[in-house]
Amino acid sequence: MTRLVVFCLFLVGLAAVMNLRDYSTIEVDNSRFDYEKKKAEHEAHVKERKELEMQYAEAIKPKVVSDEVVVEFKPLVELTSPQLERGHALYKQCIVCHAKDGSGKQANKAPKIGGQMAWYLEKQLKDMKDLIRNNKNMAPIVKRLSYEDIKDLAVYTSKLPWNPKED
Ligand code: HEC
Repeated sequence: MTRLVVFCLFLVGLAAVMNLRDYSTIEVDNSRFDYEKKKAEHEAHVKERKELEMQYAEAIKPKVVSDEVVVEFKPLVELTSPQLERGHALYKQCIVCHAKDGSGKQANKAPKIGGQMAWYLEKQLKDMKDLIRNNKNMAPIVKRLSYEDIKDLAVYTSKLPWNPKED
C-alpha cells in the first residue's frame, strides 16, 4: 500500500515537472508593453497628484492673519484717561484682525468693532472669555485678558471712528 502511495506521488511530481517545462518554452512577447507610453502616463499621473495636493493645501490654508506685529501706533483716540491709555496699549494685539480704526478685515473674518457701544463690546469679550460665545480666533486672545483689560479695551474701542469701509 505504502509503495502504491509513493508511486502515485512520484507520478504526480513527474507530471508537474513536465508541465513546468512546457511553460519555459512559451515565448515571451513584450511588444504590447510600450515603455515610453507607460512612463508618460505615470508622469502625467504624478503631475496631476501634485496639482491636486497643491489645490488641497491652498484650500485648507487658514485664511487668517498676516504675521504683522504692531509694536507702536498713533492713537486714533484722544488718550484723555489712564483707562484709555491702557486700552490703547492693549489694542495693539487686535490690529492684525480688526485694523487700527476697528473697521475689521473680511479676509480674517473679523468684524467691524470701532465705534460700537462699549457695553456691547465688553459683553462680547466677556462671553468669549467665559466660553459662552466661542470663536477659535478670539479664544486665545480673550484667554489672556483680565476682566479689567476687557473693560479698558471696550471703552477704547468704542471711541474708535466708526468707519463704514466695506472690506
Ligand atoms: C486672530 C484674529 C483676531 C484678533 C487678533 C482679534 N480678533 Fe476679535 N474677532 C475676530 C473674529 C474672527 C471675530 C468674529 C467672531 C465670531 O464670528 O464669533 C471677532 C470678534 C470680535 C468681537 C465681537 C464683535 C461683535 O460685533 O460681536 C469683539 C468685541 C472683538 N473681536 C474684539 C477684539 C479685541 C478687543 C481684540 C484684541 C484684544 C481682538 N478682537 C483681537 C478675530 C480676531
